[in-house]
Amino acid sequence: MTELSQSTLRVALVGTGAIAHAHAQVLGLDPLASVVAVADPSPAVRDAFADQYSVAGRYGSLDELLAAETVDVVHLCTPPGLHRDQAIAALRGGAHVVCEKPPVLSLADLDAVLEVAHQVGREYAVVFQQRTGTAVGHVQKLLADGTLGRPLVGVCHTLWYRKQEDYYAVPWRGKWTTEGGGPLLGLGIHQLDLLAFLLGEWAEVDARAFRLDRDLETEDTSTAVVRFANDAIVSVLTTALSPRQVSYVRVDTTLGTVEVEHLYGHDARSWRLTPAPSRTGGEPDAAPAAWTLPEDDEPSGHTPLLRAVYESFRSGSPLPPVAADPHRSLELVTAIYASAARGRPVTKADLAPGSTLRDGFLHGVEDLRPA
Ligand SMILES: NC(=O)c1ccc[n+]([C@@H]2O[C@H](COP(=O)([O-])OP(=O)(O)OC[C@H]3O[C@@H](n4cnc5c(N)ncnc54)[C@H](O)[C@@H]3O)[C@@H](O)[C@H]2O)c1
Repeated sequence: MTELSQSTLRVALVGTGAIAHAHAQVLGLDPLASVVAVADPSPAVRDAFADQYSVAGRYGSLDELLAAETVDVVHLCTPPGLHRDQAIAALRGGAHVVCEKPPVLSLADLDAVLEVAHQVGREYAVVFQQRTGTAVGHVQKLLADGTLGRPLVGVCHTLWYRKQEDYYAVPWRGKWTTEGGGPLLGLGIHQLDLLAFLLGEWAEVDARAFRLDRDLETEDTSTAVVRFANDAIVSVLTTALSPRQVSYVRVDTTLGTVEVEHLYGHDARSWRLTPAPSRTGGEPDAAPAAWTLPEDDEPSGHTPLLRAVYESFRSGSPLPPVAADPHRSLELVTAIYASAARGRPVTKADLAPGSTLRDGFLHGVEDLRPA
């Protein structure tokens, strides 16, 4: 068993807006982590946050923070367009980085960040919390070892509702340079990441992107058919226009159907495993005992994600599967945008190292709003 370091990790939170609270609350429960500093250019937001969590170090920027403090871990809870340069600065400053999704705005930027992490011997962990929780870990193993059969078809829906007047009134959202993409990158990436965690590497994407209603630079809706390396075919629909919101991932295999229906997080009650009937037209058989979800159920979320990541920081072992391989869902997003823009399928080979498609998302959005 790897020995865990018992010294307290000194942590900085950069960007003290909405999601930073989830980080501070989880870290507040870890006796071996101490948030010693925060950085945010907005004094009002920064001070209110630092007062709430009793943080002494308060800075207007990450650079000022790194110049004044020695920290072991930097959490990036900033707008996506800042993640690349801030991650590189924090890594070069000697800290591990925990970065909110989306990791960065292109595969080339991801390559650059991971290269620096490798050079300096620090980790770059991305928050894709839909991979976490007891149930998803169990289902992922059952799919990986064949207990659930061979995946054949699936569905991946992010049907969310985001209004123009509040959500998209935030200046960095809905723009290619600052948010990097539309609901596909900002919202759907959660479900795509979960899907790819369950099914592994993808092979080909055939997609379209539309602006149906919102006043954005980016799309507000996209569709895609994804073929995975294991030949499973998945239909993906991502939108910010669905008043009755749902997040839904489904995989039908040779032996049964696996589904998770939730909104922003899931536990064992969100999952349903239905065995195929053994006889044509018959009732479904009872599920095999191995399919039973564990009773020690922990929901998905920042809590199990940060616990697993901090264990790896303390032990010096590689990042756990719940926080590793950020390329999988970023590649899917890149391929969906590229396919929509080019009007043809995009394969994994199209995104190989050296491809210009790695440099950023192509913007092929069909504006279907009435003039
Ligand atoms: N994992 C999740 O479920 C989840 C949920 C919401 C948001 N997010 C992600 O978290 C990130 C932040 O989203 P949010 O909703 O908290 O946004 P937000 O706008 O509420 O907060 C961002 C904060 O960053 C600050 N900021 C801006 N420029 C900065 C700079 N140069 N240095 C330091 N701070 C700076 C802003 O002042 C603001 O307080 C985004 O990447 C978003 O996609 C993840």
